[in-house]
Amino acid sequence: MRELLQDAARRAASYLEGLPARSVEPSLDSLAALQKLRVPLPEHSLSPEKVLALLDEIGSPATVATAGPRYFGFVTGGSLPASVAANWLSGAWDQNGAFVVGSPIAAALEEVSLSWIRELLALSPGWGGGFVTGTTMGNFSGLAAARHQVLSRAGWNVEGQGLFGAPEIRVVVGAEVHASLLKALGLLGLGRERVVTIPVDRKGRMRADALEPRFLEGPTIVCLQAGNVNTGAFDPIREIAPRAREAGAWVHVDGAFGLWAAVSPRTRHFTEGIDEVDSIATDLHKWLNVPYDSGLALYRDPAVARAALAVTAAYLPQTDERTPSDFTPEASRRARGIDIWAALLSLGREGVADLIDRCCRYARQFASGLEAAGFTILNEVELNQVLVSFGDDERTRAVIQAVQRDGTCWCGGSFWQGRAAMRISVSSWATTEEDVERSLAAIIRVARS
Ligand SMILES: Cc1ncc(COP(=O)(O)O)c(C=O)c1O
Repeated sequence: MRELLQDAARRAASYLEGLPARSVEPSLDSLAALQKLRVPLPEHSLSPEKVLALLDEIGSPATVATAGPRYFGFVTGGSLPASVAANWLSGAWDQNGAFVVGSPIAAALEEVSLSWIRELLALSPGWGGGFVTGTTMGNFSGLAAARHQVLSRAGWNVEGQGLFGAPEIRVVVGAEVHASLLKALGLLGLGRERVVTIPVDRKGRMRADALEPRFLEGPTIVCLQAGNVNTGAFDPIREIAPRAREAGAWVHVDGAFGLWAAVSPRTRHFTEGIDEVDSIATDLHKWLNVPYDSGLALYRDPAVARAALAVTAAYLPQTDERTPSDFTPEASRRARGIDIWAALLSLGREGVADLIDRCCRYARQFASGLEAAGFTILNEVELNQVLVSFGDDERTRAVIQAVQRDGTCWCGGSFWQGRAAMRISVSSWATTEEDVERSLAAIIRVARS
């Protein structure tokens, strides 16, 4: 066992050390080699050493270098060294994060992480949370709590009776709502399409003036966004949340990555009013840079979330302690809090703020470099997201493909206010100023050729 694990550590270290020099996209040859893994289910056993060697030899080259310093696709954080290491050790522990009795260490570190995150985000001490796979399930969990509360106020027990014959719930979203939030609404029986959609401004922010009082009447859930996936813009939480809550609505915020702006004094103002909402979903695998899968649902009143999500059974432990699974849709799960605890302990408050600031600074560096080269930046670069056009849509799409093939860096595509755009999302601890310069040079070279 020791030899095997040491071999795994050696191989992983070589992989990570090689990332800055390799192409971000895997080569066509390495993708073709994946075919060698498509073999019939083996009848007989293979030594763990051989299994690991096969995984490394064929698997490592076929990865996209998302853990490296020049991956700017989607919103992808790398993994901080302390959290990768903690993830390995806790993987060896093989702890089930569902119950205190199954993993006291997992439960304790969830509580510690939660209290640190509360502090970092300047949330009141009563906030609680559940550690989920990502923001999709964070949205699902927050909205499950919302559904419970608005219907319970209307005298309806939705967990017991379902939505058959229930009072109608109005769900309000901005026109720039993320697809994952709509998916969560669909899963909860609230409908992806049965929403009131509020128009947005040119940055993609919900227009507070368009949220008419009639949209807040009766059982209502208002869904806001902290960090637009294209522009990085924030809905005006401070303007909307108190008004909506006063009218009796539940306010949920999708803060997949943008919520972390609250940690830095330079960007904190974007999240003003966040302590006045009812639930928040965020990712740790994005801007906090911990390994996948890692998201968090935060609840102003954890008792409401427990009422929506907890179950009891004769064989399950009854305890006065915080039971992790009371706040998540799933029961058995990975002990996610451990990677988060390690990331936060290794960075400290200053380190998290520096991570946020650096990514924002590099995004501005990208924008000014591309603008100086004659290309059009389509958004106001206030956070870590940059949208750039290289000409007409066809040209922009061709450049995106060529940038990806070039392999120096990786950026994805999107569509913003009627125009194709290349998206640059700077979200990794590993990115340096030199990486930005090197990527800029490659993008400009490719776009001019
Ligand atoms: C605003 C927003 N919400 C939700 C999500 C979905 O997050 P996840 O893939 O972690 O479920 C994303 C992903 O980029 C996002 O940017």
